[in-house]
Amino acid sequence: MLDNMTYDNTGKINMSDIYNKPDPFIYFSTLSELGYRIPQEAKPRFQQLIEARRNATKSDSTKVVDLGCSYGVNGALLKHGLSMDELYRLYAEINDPETLLARDRELYAAPVDPAIEMVGVDLAERAVSYAVEVGMLDAGVVTNLETTDPTPMDAASLENTDLIISTGCVGYVSEVSLERLLRSSLDSRPWMAHFVLRMFDFGASEEMLARHGYVTEKVTGVFPQRQFASSEERQQVLDKLDGMGLDATGIETTGWYFAELHVARPEEVAKAMPIDKILPSRDLQIA
Ligand SMILES: C[S@@+](CC[C@H](N)C(=O)[O-])C[C@H]1O[C@@H](n2cnc3c(N)ncnc32)[C@H](O)[C@@H]1O
Repeated sequence: MLDNMTYDNTGKINMSDIYNKPDPFIYFSTLSELGYRIPQEAKPRFQQLIEARRNATKSDSTKVVDLGCSYGVNGALLKHGLSMDELYRLYAEINDPETLLARDRELYAAPVDPAIEMVGVDLAERAVSYAVEVGMLDAGVVTNLETTDPTPMDAASLENTDLIISTGCVGYVSEVSLERLLRSSLDSRPWMAHFVLRMFDFGASEEMLARHGYVTEKVTGVFPQRQFASSEERQQVLDKLDGMGLDATGIETTGWYFAELHVARPEEVAKAMPIDKILPSRDLQIA
């Protein structure tokens, strides 16, 4: 896949080819080659937020909506206790689709945190179907919320959510998708946590969230997402960051994309439960 690279209008390599295959082989082999690790960075932070939400609602059952869920990676990490390294190994050791399907049905049959209900949202229909079929996700919604309102059936899958998360998706999606998710779940006042590359501005989402009475806080620190795929991609991203007035020295100049964590919660919750009590800051560590 990395042999014939094209670039999208943000300067990133175009990976749409790998997002919607019938099974996850190419997704994991390509991302492994790039050292993609943001779901692993996200895992302990999402777990701390789930714990805090459980304390706040005095209920263990937690509904998590994962926007841009792909093959259910965050579900595999959060509900099934796996790591990215384990996923990369597990999807490299079998190359027959039928054997993989049978193995995965067994692998995801007994979640380590069954009180999490994972609902994935993605426009990649085959990725979502695979993840639901094998149990990485409890349910999936195939839609593009950038362009379309949720159908009544989608809305039923998205209501009563506790936490809306994303890794590697903002940039493909904007405040438009986030607002449609929020409107689908207004009664439960879900919290949100999005890992967003530094090259993408989260400002419009913050403003949208503020209109709904939410406060967005950026957790201190930066999180390695993946290595640049080529010197061309590196240069395009460095130029973009420079154009945004951001200093990439010692961060993206190391050859990695970095993301920041934006957490949004209703104003009264943000006041009552300071974010730095839930999530310790992340010192810069280059992988
Ligand atoms: C880099 S992958 C990240 C997947 C997964 N969250 C992870 O971290 O492994 C980006 C995902 O965003 C999805 N995506 C792109 N545009 C989207 C849209 N408009 N709505 C929902 N998902 C979208 C892609 O299909 C792909 O699965």
